Amino acid sequence: MKKVLVTGGAGFIGSNFVHYLLGTARDLKIQIVNLDALTYAGSLENLKDLPEGHYTFVQGDICNRDLVRGLLDQYQIDTIVHFAAESHVDRSILSPEPFIQANVIGTFTLLEAARQYWLIEKALPIDEIRFHHVSTDEVYGTLDPEDPAFSETTPYAPNSPYAASKAASDHLVRSYHHTYQLPVTISNCSNNYGPRQFPEKLIPLIILNALSGKSLPVYGDGQQIRDWLFVTDHCEAIYKILTQGVSGQTYNIGGNNQSANLTIVETVCDLLDEMQPAAEPRRNLIKFVTDRPGHDRRYAMNISKIDRELGWKPRYSLTDGLIATVQWMLANPEWVVAIQKQSEYQTWLTKNYDKREKSS
Ligand code: NAD
Ligand code: TYD
Repeated sequence: MKKVLVTGGAGFIGSNFVHYLLGTARDLKIQIVNLDALTYAGSLENLKDLPEGHYTFVQGDICNRDLVRGLLDQYQIDTIVHFAAESHVDRSILSPEPFIQANVIGTFTLLEAARQYWLIEKALPIDEIRFHHVSTDEVYGTLDPEDPAFSETTPYAPNSPYAASKAASDHLVRSYHHTYQLPVTISNCSNNYGPRQFPEKLIPLIILNALSGKSLPVYGDGQQIRDWLFVTDHCEAIYKILTQGVSGQTYNIGGNNQSANLTIVETVCDLLDEMQPAAEPRRNLIKFVTDRPGHDRRYAMNISKIDRELGWKPRYSLTDGLIATVQWMLANPEWVVAIQKQSEYQTWLTKNYDKREKSS
């Protein structure tokens, strides 16, 4: 891994991964090219203060075949770490089409460019190249309370257009390994949270609403369970897979932190009350609203494979991760203001929540 193309590196996890590579991992032997379309979810605010000389940003679409092919050639890319995607389930329910475009056609375009450039044109040795695909636990569907956690052999059963588009992309990646021997790895990860997460997702939305005294929307009965992972732990797991993982393998990544949504919201309220006391307890802002259609009840990840084979385990407890997330938000008011000013964000809040609140 010397010349790395990161896709979607201006988004939440991708930008944390760039910071991780050049900061925590201090892997300064590498050059990073970050290809991101800067959709509503991507921001250059996420990429400040990176060490000079190791990093290039290119604004563009992963569906643009000529652009992707040109970048592989221009920068002699040997590793692709593919984060770029439409990533929010609620948006996929209201408008599924961009998910098919970015997640399915986008992944196909990258795979095809990699195959053409690495395998056909350059005929590079397979141990010198790698395509890593970042995916989700949502491809496995939903669990009942007593079901065992998802493992790498759980059959796919995606329930939302988002999950189905990610499942399709996983299948394409798998097929390029099986048919063309493209060296690939796939990681399926549970819900992330942490610095730089766009506040359409549960935890940053709740933190920002609570700080400004707005209502805290909890879908349905709030008893849906997710397995929460602090984003830096995810970045470390991906780095392990890139440096030690076996081509053709899938690795499940999770936080060993199963928690109901209502518990998460209450915990955030209590932490904020301690860190920034308000006139009233923030729990008073909680509002149960109309449920998400087709809402998956529970996700949980069995992470014994990545633990056993690569020696990775999450480091952050849920409490420590939530404290770090709130502290980051409080320390970065300019980031918060920039996102809140985005007209697209305000439009999204109206589109997703106004009807819900009226009908609850
Ligand atoms: P995000 O929505 O915060 O960021 C996505 C980034 O991709 C943005 O910067 C956006 O501009 C870019 N992008 C979107 N379409 C593009 C296109 N066509 N061309 C180029 N760039 C494009 O997403 P995230 O939460 O950082 O998720 C990153 C990846 O991790 C996704 O593949 C997602 O499916 C996966 N994942 C996310 C989570 C989670 O909890 N957030 C959990 C598991 C897996
Ligand atoms: P989200 O952060 O959108 O992630 P995902 O849908 O990928 O799991 O949502 C996490 C959980 O929180 C999910 O069960 C839906 C729920 N949720 C709410 O209850 N209220 C909200 O306003 C949002 C955005 C999510």
